[in-house]
Amino acid sequence: MKSDEVKEYFCKRPVVEDYARAVDEVGLWNSERAMVSKYFNPQDSIIELGCGAGRISINLALAGFSNLTTTDFSPAMVAAARKIAEAKNLSAVKFAVCDAVSTGFGDASFGGAIFGFNGLMQIPRRESRRKALCEIARILKPRARFLFTTHDRDNIKNRQYWENEKKQWQSNSQMPVLDDFGDIYYRGDHGNIFIHSPVRSEVEDDLRMAGFVLLECRLRSLIAEEPQAVVDFSDDCLFWAAEKY
Ligand SMILES: C[S@@+](CC[C@H](N)C(=O)[O-])C[C@H]1O[C@@H](n2cnc3c(N)ncnc32)[C@H](O)[C@@H]1O
Repeated sequence: MKSDEVKEYFCKRPVVEDYARAVDEVGLWNSERAMVSKYFNPQDSIIELGCGAGRISINLALAGFSNLTTTDFSPAMVAAARKIAEAKNLSAVKFAVCDAVSTGFGDASFGGAIFGFNGLMQIPRRESRRKALCEIARILKPRARFLFTTHDRDNIKNRQYWENEKKQWQSNSQMPVLDDFGDIYYRGDHGNIFIHSPVRSEVEDDLRMAGFVLLECRLRSLIAEEPQAVVDFSDDCLFWAAEKY
């Protein structure tokens, strides 16, 4: 799977429109609100990666976060986020188009980072996800926190699916587009979607390699109860909080 194919998907008009609607119709998840207020202060300089149409940053700005840099590698997503922020008079939110693997920001530029709703796991190949983690560590100040979410391949509910997948990989008959065991490529409403579903030890190892100390890893459903709009928008996921070494 090529990163450009993922980007192409997130530049499609109906996909951008879905994420733009989510800014108001889904809003900030209760779990996101809980984790952000636990690990960040409203005045922290926070970069959001993979912002989509700005669901997280725009709602954080409305809640009083005053130093947000909101980024995505899809120019169409960033344009939509900018337009929504302007309509809400959020002139202090800064926007940029950037790839999390190579952001272009200077060393130690930010006091916090967020890569919400499993965006980090939409980077194909473990090597590139590790590069993104190193890049995020590089642009963070020492002791700055990084919040992100992932699927949970260790979840017992999915065991049968992964056992079947394992058989495919063992007989070398997995979908040719997949790079790593744990990759999922499926047909959504607007085209094919790629995501990697990691095991916890994989994320722990990659965080350590990139220079992060793990602070917390908890299922969303154990952090907060979510309204139906959030449950319909996204499955339960794991929240990760880490601190730059
Ligand atoms: C599942 S969407 C989440 C959007 C938004 N954070 C939300 O919760 O509504 C994942 C986002 O990550 C972005 N993304 C994927 N890979 C990326 C990369 N390598 N660099 C920057 N953004 C990326 C996509 O363009 C997409 O907007």
